[in-house]
Parts: sequence; C-alpha cells; structure tokens
Amino acid sequence: MSDSMNATSQTKTATTQIDSAINSFAPAKTKAARGSSRSKQANTDLKFTNKPITASSIKKLRTQCLILPVYDEKSLPTLTRTIDAATGGQIKQLLKTGDFQGKADQTALIPCEPLKGIERIILFGCGKKSEFNASALQSSINQAIKTLSNTKATQAAIAVSDIDTPDAYRIISQTIISNLYKFSQLKSDLSKEKHRLKSIALLGAGTAKQREKAKQSLDEGTAIGNGMNYTRTLGNLPGNICTPSYLAKEAAKLARKNSKLSCKALSEKDLEKLKAGAFLSVSKGSDEPAKMIIMDYKGSPKKSDAPYVFVGKGITFDTGGICIKPSSKMDEMKYDMCGAASVFGLMHAVTALKLPINVIGIIAAAENMPSARATRPGDIVTSMSGKTIEILNTDAEGRLVLCDALTYAKRYKPAAVIDIATLTGACIVALGNTTSGLMSNHDGLAKQLLKAGEIALDPAWQLPINKEYTKMLDSEFADFANIGSGGAGTITAACFLSHFTKEYNWAHLDIAGTAWKSGGGKGATGRPVPLLTQYLLNRVKKGQ
Ligand code: BES
Ligand code: MN
Ligand code: ZN
Repeated sequence: MSDSMNATSQTKTATTQIDSAINSFAPAKTKAARGSSRSKQANTDLKFTNKPITASSIKKLRTQCLILPVYDEKSLPTLTRTIDAATGGQIKQLLKTGDFQGKADQTALIPCEPLKGIERIILFGCGKKSEFNASALQSSINQAIKTLSNTKATQAAIAVSDIDTPDAYRIISQTIISNLYKFSQLKSDLSKEKHRLKSIALLGAGTAKQREKAKQSLDEGTAIGNGMNYTRTLGNLPGNICTPSYLAKEAAKLARKNSKLSCKALSEKDLEKLKAGAFLSVSKGSDEPAKMIIMDYKGSPKKSDAPYVFVGKGITFDTGGICIKPSSKMDEMKYDMCGAASVFGLMHAVTALKLPINVIGIIAAAENMPSARATRPGDIVTSMSGKTIEILNTDAEGRLVLCDALTYAKRYKPAAVIDIATLTGACIVALGNTTSGLMSNHDGLAKQLLKAGEIALDPAWQLPINKEYTKMLDSEFADFANIGSGGAGTITAACFLSHFTKEYNWAHLDIAGTAWKSGGGKGATGRPVPLLTQYLLNRVKKGQ
C-alpha cells in the first residue's frame, strides 16, 4: 500500500486543525473569581486532511472507518457503489433487508472484512437526492459522527466527492467540530469527557481547482466551528468566573496571539469621562466593575478602510437588578453575555482566516445586580449621546449598555454596525429557538445578513421598526423610557437602540432564543457566529 493512500498520512494533504486551546480557561483574579485555576481540557485535537480520491484509489484506502453517503433511491453514489462491489455487495445486501434504506438521518455501521485497509464502514442516509440540501447534509453528518463516536475508531475518512451540495466541506468540517464540543473544564474527572477522534480525511474530487476550492471551504468551516466553540465556552462559563474583567483578559489573550489584532479595555473611570451614564447605571449595583472592551483587527491592506463594527451585549450575569427576576431558571442568565461571546468567536474566525478587511469588536460588559447602590426604577440617566433615559425597568439593562457602546461606535466611521444581544424574552415568544430576530435601519444591510444566515444555516428573520413603535417609548420625564408600553417587546427594544444609530448603517440581532439551549443538554450554541462570519466572507468575496 502506498503511503499517500493512507488516510492518516499528512503527505500531500491540506491539514486544518481544531483549536482545542480555546477550551482552556484561566479565571480572572477579581474579587469574585472563585473558580479553580486548572486549565485542563477534555477535547483532543482533531485534524482534517483533504485528499483526492477516485473510484479505483478508494479500494486501496487505509482507514479505521470509511463514511459513505447513501441516498434513498435505487442507484448508489459512485464511491459507495465501488466499495459495495469490492466488498461482495454487502451494502446492497443491507439495503435489501430494509434495515437501512438511505433515509435522511439513518446510519448503519458494518464491519469491512474483505477490504483489509478499511476496518469498518458507516453508511449515512441522505434521503431523497432531489430534496438533499445543505441543512440535510448537516443533520446527516451529525448522525454519522454520533455513530462514529460510539466506535473505538480514532480516525475516519468521509467520501465527499459524491455530495454535490455547495460548500460541502465548510458544512462538514463546521458540523463535526461543533458536534465534538464538550464543556468539561469544570469537571474534576476528565477521563469520561474525552472524545477519541484524532483525524478525519475528507475524500474529494482531484483537479487542482476543485482541491483548492475544497481547501478554502474546509478552512472556512474549521474557522467557524472553532469560533462557535470558543463562543460556547465563554457562554457556558458561570458568572463567578466569566466577569467583565475576565472578558477583558480574554480579549488581551486573543490580541497577544494575533499581530493584526489589538485591544483595550475602558474602565468605569474611562466610561465616566466619556459620560456613558446609561452604561454605568447597569453596573452600579455590582461589585464587578463594568468594562467596555474594544478589539481592533486591521486586516485590510488599506489601514484607513471603513471597518465593520460588531457590538456585543456582555451582561455577565443578569439578575434583573432591583426589578429582580424570579429564581427559577435564573442560572441561565449567565448566558446574557452570549452577544459578546459571539463577537469573540467572530474575531477568532476572522483572525484564523486572515480576512483582508478591518473589523472592530466592542464588548459592553457589566453585571446587573440589586444592591443599596443599584439603579432604582424611575431613575433618569444621561447617555453618552446626551439623550436622557428614564429607567422604568432595571431588567431592561442590555439596551442601556448597548446604547452607549453604539454611540461610541460612531468614531470609527464604520461601513456598518451590527449589534448582537440576548435582548428580549419576547424574541423567544416570537421566533422560538431556531431563528434570530433581525432589525435594521438599512434594507440592504438587512438583506445581506439574512442571506448570510441562510447560507450558514444560522437563520434570522426581519421584524419591522418604525415611528409607531418608537412612540411606545415616550416618557413623561425624560427623552424616552427604557421600556415600551403595549407589546412588541423585541421591536421596541430595537427602536430604543435606533435612537443611537442614526449616523450609520446599523442592524440589531436579538439572539435571546438562539444563543443557548435550555433543558437536557443545555448550553451555549455558538450562534450567530456562522451568520456573522459568512456575512464578512461575503463582503470579502464581493470586494465589499
Ligand atoms: N437578558 C434579558 C432577556 C432574556 C430573557 C433573554 C429571557 C433570554 C431569556 C433582558 O435583559 C431582559 O431581562 N429583558 C426583559 C425586558 C423587559 C423588562 C422589557 C424581558 O425580556 O423580560
Ligand atoms: Mn434583563
Ligand atoms: Zn439581560
């Protein structure tokens, strides 16, 4: 057997590595940080290789597990058919029994006796070829990886050349990386937490052009998958560890690793000088000092190119403040910094892909706590913009930190500003957990984001904002109130923000429903990192 046919070999193959370092953590040394200083991690490194394959070379492949697609139709895909013939018709035999029919999300594990180099085969059902698309590919790969994880295999090869979905490599690599994610650094026994997989070879068509495209797509999927997992880790860390100061340190860590990325963290004193009265009103009740963290990525060959600015809501814990939330499920409010976490994940992906554009990330980080010093309902504060706000509900705090961060964003003369926030429970009522809410003052920008979400399988849906809704924020005593009256809570929250975004193209993503899962297997999802990264990839491909 020639060495180049060994799927575990790295010769002549493009290699892309999962970033397991993002699963390590170092607790911030603030007064509230009581986490341990272990930086253990359960996830092992996984390597992807991108290998050319033909019907004749696949028989000589050496792999612990060959993963093959089967559609719910009479004829088998080329490589699957070749392997069927080489194994004396094992696959067709299985199909005949009716136990496995190639239906969407079905999988079958079969030993592979006749081909010595291939230890086992996993067939994954793709359903009807006419209905097969990117999202069907994502869910069938998820099933195949689940089946693979139940075997002893540490290495596998997936036949990609018979999957003619655009960007199959991006979807497969992203899906696998995110499928293998586990948050385990706060468990004391890591032995049960490790996944075994070390490398996966993606077997594809062989022309130089096809391989180049595959490599690009694989790199994108890897960057997005790693970015999502980074976002999930930050989201899953509890409020006693992941404080505003912790996030500031995390930004510094990211910047240290990338020469094109710099960062600074504005303290409460700096925020006072900037007259960020809305921002500061949120952290008043907390012992954890607020931080506005700025990450500045200069990737464009023209340093003066207008940057894309992403503003993330980073409430590291939202008790509701004096308008305190009920205690049931209050633990989930550690996720109230998932907008900020998604900006970290995006920055991680942007630096990994070395995108030739300028990108700014602004993290509005604070903890919302009740105390004798906390903001009271009815208090009136002056925002950085000079507008006064009557805080009728201290639990509508996200918009208060965001409005000052959005005012601050003006100084970058941005190409566009996108804020990402777990802003309203009403968004979960409207769109559930599958679709993020999108609101914008610019239809072109909204369309680009919706399109990016569609391509990246990270969908958003646009809701209207207009004067009728904005009126609902009228206040008797200040320029406006921080909550609306009369329903449409997601929209009135966006209307509040729109007061501060008049001078640039702006969009707001409400990810209250999509950023994390409740119930069994609960945790941060890593959304909307795919949407945001795809949006920037599209800007780069279109020459912006
Ligand atoms: N972080 C919450 C929004 C939220 C609630 C996200 C539940 C995910 C699940 C936000 O700060 C908040 O409390 N919003 C209030 C606004 C209300 C007081 C106008 C809400 O949605 O109830
Ligand atoms: Mn709140
Ligand atoms: Zn909140």
